[in-house]
Amino acid sequence: MDPANTPRPLSRRLAGWLAGSALTAPGRRLMEANLRDYHLPLSKWGKLAAGGWLILRDHADGKFPPTFEDQRKAYQGEIEYFASIPGAARERMIADHVVKPFWDAHWFGKYAADLARLLRVFEQLGVPADARLLELGCGCGWMAEFLAIKGYDVTGTTIAPDDVAIGEKRVAALVARGLPPRLRFRVAPMETVDECVGDAGPFDVVFVFEALHHAFDWRKSIHSAARALKPGGWLVLANEPNLVHTFVSYRVGRLTNTHEIGMSGPALRAEMTAAGLAEHRIFQPSLDNRITAHWLAARRPAR
Ligand SMILES: C[S@@+](CC[C@H](N)C(=O)[O-])C[C@H]1O[C@@H](n2cnc3c(N)ncnc32)[C@H](O)[C@@H]1O
Repeated sequence: MDPANTPRPLSRRLAGWLAGSALTAPGRRLMEANLRDYHLPLSKWGKLAAGGWLILRDHADGKFPPTFEDQRKAYQGEIEYFASIPGAARERMIADHVVKPFWDAHWFGKYAADLARLLRVFEQLGVPADARLLELGCGCGWMAEFLAIKGYDVTGTTIAPDDVAIGEKRVAALVARGLPPRLRFRVAPMETVDECVGDAGPFDVVFVFEALHHAFDWRKSIHSAARALKPGGWLVLANEPNLVHTFVSYRVGRLTNTHEIGMSGPALRAEMTAAGLAEHRIFQPSLDNRITAHWLAARRPAR
């Protein structure tokens, strides 16, 4: 039978009917406005209505749940992030990220707590104070900068040259303050990061904060991270979203043309095991509820 004439499954027909109904019209209107302006103020209910409508619409069209098949397109979406936000100029996005995490009390509080938590994780793992760290998906480099100030030797990596340009301003600021040169940034896809970091490695710790779920292939990224570790080194996954994120952040992923998916704890741990990492440490969630973000570590055996 011609695929064009194949009847759509019931769930997709139902989703299409709901997305076209008066019931979800407020969500559709909000989503249409949001597609013109990323910074449109939305209440929690507004986000739910807009995101819910988009999921119904895309499910009806066979686009949700998302499947990622084109690596070049995925990389390009991440690389062009600052230039592709609806209603926000690239210059404004860059200016915002130069000062991350000092945005407002809410965001500063969140990021400060996350950084403190990461430091606690390092302490609990026994990471030495001058350890060599590799960050994957470092964005504008705010966390790498603080960790270098703290005394670690830090290599921040990201797929986006715009991120590295901001990171280099952070390096220059540390140099101007007379701190030792222990921070650098490189463009490197995390799927092949071990091949790209050259003589900066191997590392005592490879960590990724809120970025593994943006990778084109998070499984491959775990294997590459494992290869970048010294024997006895730790891979730390920090605040990587649980399964519910695939639904909650679908709207944001569509607006920014980036990967926003959730990963299950068992799938993450199975991949760490397959990459040869043992001694798993689960800091969060103690009981996997599919909602709470993951804070996990696993170790490359010493021999
Ligand atoms: C949500 S941002 C998080 C950035 C950073 N960890 C922070 O806290 O600001 C995701 C980052 O992952 C990067 N990224 C996405 N896909 C990547 C890939 N395949 N390899 C390396 N970096 C990637 C993006 O360019 C971006 O810098």
